[in-house]
Amino acid sequence: MSKRFYITTAIDYLNGQPHLGHAYEKIVTDVIARARRSFGQEVFFLTGLDEHGQKVQQAAQAEGQTPQAYCDALAADWKSFAQKLELTNDDFVRTTESRHKEFVQAILAKLQAAGEFYTKTYEGFYSPREESFLTDKDRLPNGTFDPAYGEVIKLQETNYWFKLGAQQNWLIDYIEANPAFIQPDYRRNEVLGFLKHNTLEDLCISRPVTRLNWGIPLPFDAGYVTYVWFDALVNYISIPAAHGDPACSAFQSASGQRPAAIELWPADIHVIGKDILKFHAVYWPIMLKAMGLPLPKQILVHGWWQKDGAKISKSTGNIVDPLAVIAEWGLDAFRFYVLRELDIGPDGNWTDASFKARYQAELANGLGNLINRSLSMLKRYRNGVVPARSDELAPEATKIIADTRALLEQSQLQAALLAIWALVTRANQYVDQTAPFKLAKDPAQAQRLDEVLYNLTETCRVLAVLLWPFLPGTATKIYAQLGLSDAPDKFSTAAWGGMQPGHPIGEPTPLFPRKDV
Ligand code: ME8
Ligand code: MG
Repeated sequence: MSKRFYITTAIDYLNGQPHLGHAYEKIVTDVIARARRSFGQEVFFLTGLDEHGQKVQQAAQAEGQTPQAYCDALAADWKSFAQKLELTNDDFVRTTESRHKEFVQAILAKLQAAGEFYTKTYEGFYSPREESFLTDKDRLPNGTFDPAYGEVIKLQETNYWFKLGAQQNWLIDYIEANPAFIQPDYRRNEVLGFLKHNTLEDLCISRPVTRLNWGIPLPFDAGYVTYVWFDALVNYISIPAAHGDPACSAFQSASGQRPAAIELWPADIHVIGKDILKFHAVYWPIMLKAMGLPLPKQILVHGWWQKDGAKISKSTGNIVDPLAVIAEWGLDAFRFYVLRELDIGPDGNWTDASFKARYQAELANGLGNLINRSLSMLKRYRNGVVPARSDELAPEATKIIADTRALLEQSQLQAALLAIWALVTRANQYVDQTAPFKLAKDPAQAQRLDEVLYNLTETCRVLAVLLWPFLPGTATKIYAQLGLSDAPDKFSTAAWGGMQPGHPIGEPTPLFPRKDV
């Protein structure tokens, strides 16, 4: 049994409908998962929902429903959203499932027995919206709390706390010794700066049921439920345990254990947004160390999308509805735009104008035009039959194939798309330079025309394989138009020369119909 490449998204709060930010994170993760599978690796891709806590309880209340009924209804929308994005996730976790809840309770019981928790009465400020205890350090220079905390109240409460204080130094050493652990580098430096300039406060891991009852009961005190973040982070190991991962199953009672089936932990990549970095890069490693588990290999942190330069917000109506965009333009146009527009790291800005401009220039006039005219010319001039092999574009294609692979291995998705588009552009230039429509008029040029048509057809095939992780539907259509019956899902088949002379291609049809902009 060998360990699989294990990649996760954050699990989304079930307090509304999915938006652009959620879609982006899932698509990024899906591309990395598909790329790894295409390299021949065994992959496990996990996504899902964070269903407990104040935010969800309040959202349910606002709809006049019990939290469970509210979650069950909405979870169906989110699962169907994942399908509409054509995510290749291997499981979908809901933190209200018993396989997760029982695992969280098993861990809490172990850590309690190991003396990791203590009780303390806290008196101070609290943000119900963010479910966090605040101190004077959280105040802005003008003395107020960040509006992100919502209404801040005074609270006196006894809770269970997790000791973090003594953990700071090993974590700093670990992050310094493992540059790949938090990426991009500026996020890593942010965490190091935070750890070096602050003393870690202990983490409150409970909420009294008198104030919040929508959570996992503490196994050792019925008066409390588990703090939602302690519950949520554990999904990354509770689901491996449910699949029989031996590293994670050790926490379960003998009756709950599955036969060893697949090895997942440690995760290879946790894909998250910048706002939840501290939970993943500080609390989660400390929790794992207390459990005796190795740390994830990488936390890959993406930025936040805005629309038209302003925060995405339901209340102001400043939203992008991914499903509406997909209905109008197609899934691959949506996937392409978010991946091409925004590198993993900085913040991005959605504008309808730039979406349409990229669609027109890069998809319709770039890729779509190349595929359509290459295959149409092969139909017209050679009855759709692939001519003898020619390697004129092979050196350039081979270099781009290697570059794309290296970039995909580093999860540099935007740079990989740029590399692939260099081949699109080169092949479109090649059409213009070789002018096959002129060659076709001169019988003496028949062999030259064969060469040109082979190079174009083979480039289309190579492009389909390179594009598969990003634009799976488009890659599949290109293969079908080439008359190829297998899927373009194996990176090794990108190697130049795969198109067999004498092979009859299928019907060319436009991939990205031009729209009036
Ligand atoms: O934080 N642009 O859930 P969440 C890009 N349940 N990404 C965005 C975004 C935007 N405008 N808005 C949100 C939670 N995200 C917790 C996670 S993980 C154990 C628990 C990203 O629904 C955000 O950064 O508020 C996060 O990675 C994900 O969407 C879920 O956010
Ligand atoms: Mg959030």
